[in-house]
Amino acid sequence: MLMAANGIWRASAQSPARGTALPVGKTVRIKAPLGLPPVPIPADNPPTADSIALGRRLYYDPQLSVDGTISCASCHAPQFAFADEHPVSFGVSKKTGNRHAPTVINSAYNPLQFWDGRAPSLEEQAKGPMTNPVEMAHSLDGVVQRLQADPKYAALFRKAWGKDPIEIDLVAKSIASFERTVIAGDSPFDRFYYGHDEKALSPAAQRGLKIFLDPKKADCEVCHTIGKTSALFTDNKFHNLGVGADTRGNLNDVGRFSQTKNDADMGCFKTPTLRNLAHRAPYMHDGSFPTVKDALAHYIGGGNANDHLDKQIHALDFLTFDERNDLLQFLDALNGKLPANIGPPPDLAAAPVSAQKTTKTSAK
Ligand code: HEC
Ligand code: HEC
Repeated sequence: MLMAANGIWRASAQSPARGTALPVGKTVRIKAPLGLPPVPIPADNPPTADSIALGRRLYYDPQLSVDGTISCASCHAPQFAFADEHPVSFGVSKKTGNRHAPTVINSAYNPLQFWDGRAPSLEEQAKGPMTNPVEMAHSLDGVVQRLQADPKYAALFRKAWGKDPIEIDLVAKSIASFERTVIAGDSPFDRFYYGHDEKALSPAAQRGLKIFLDPKKADCEVCHTIGKTSALFTDNKFHNLGVGADTRGNLNDVGRFSQTKNDADMGCFKTPTLRNLAHRAPYMHDGSFPTVKDALAHYIGGGNANDHLDKQIHALDFLTFDERNDLLQFLDALNGKLPANIGPPPDLAAAPVSAQKTTKTSAK
């Protein structure tokens, strides 16, 4: 650290201040599969094999929660495409919030995290659940103390970051680096659209793609974007589809408005990716649609009327039943393969699941 002339402490390159620490190992390149753009990497957190491995362990470790029962994977589980099978998740002591856990898959590409965009990065996002009273209900100091007390972690932090006293920013950075490896492309759609393999998509799914793109038909692409060389299936913007609105147009959640206080953002939520959709039911910010077909039916009906319904949302009841089926076939062709080494480390494999079971049986 250097003392700047004006008396403010500034970080020097040799000795970065808290939060600006860089991992000590060799930076690894995360290879994006077919159909995905390069993974954005923040300058102050280049991933290394050791920081990714540490982040993977932390992601699956229920020790991050106050009572040692809930890990990130309890709500973003690999068997449910890194989302939650429940409409809203169960945190410690079976507490519930009011939003559905979105998938962690491809969250590396989100310029803003959460349904309302309230976190600017994966690093910032990762600290949220640790202190959220209905999620892990811990304190950041408590997490650091818990990890510091485990000799295994002291060694792993030293290996990845060249130091242990453990710091919460290093916990968050490690988890974020792991999350940047949880990416899925190379689906049948990608092999057809970007790989030019005509056989990769069934004729029905190919028709579904045309309907998805066609401004006169379903026009889904206006928000679930497909680019020239890659597709994230999101415009990274916030829209009001009237999900959760009652018959009088009252919304169950103000969404993006909570962050901007801008009336136009009332009831708006971030457009989610549609990749690996099939394995992560239920859908939408409140998990209110049990199947993809239910989600599609919402669009067919033109969304739920409310004062802030997005102008792009209108009834699609003119689509024939064959066209609706083609659309579903297309949405089912967006399931990409995930990398092999993103599951729980062997010694933590059973932890989140058994922790959930204990919580369930202990609750009446
Ligand atoms: C008790 C359940 C629960 C736990 C535990 C949990 N999350 Fe979440 N996660 C959620 C919910 C619910 C949301 C959406 C909340 C919102 O948008 O307001 C979310 C949002 C996210 C997002 C944003 C994704 C996007 O598309 O915007 C990421 C990334 C994420 N969580 C990662 C993590 C990590 C990393 C951990 C562990 C440190 C974790 N979560 C722990 C339930 C959970
Ligand atoms: C105006 C922008 C917009 C258009 C057009 C649009 N979507 Fe969406 N989509 C969204 C937003 C925003 C959400 C999340 C809404 C919420 O949870 O309140 C969403 C959610 C979804 C989901 C749930 C995904 C998840 O992870 O929960 C599916 C499936 C979906 N859209 C499919 C479609 C299809 C199919 C079409 C075309 C018929 C379409 N969308 C058109 C913006 C749009």
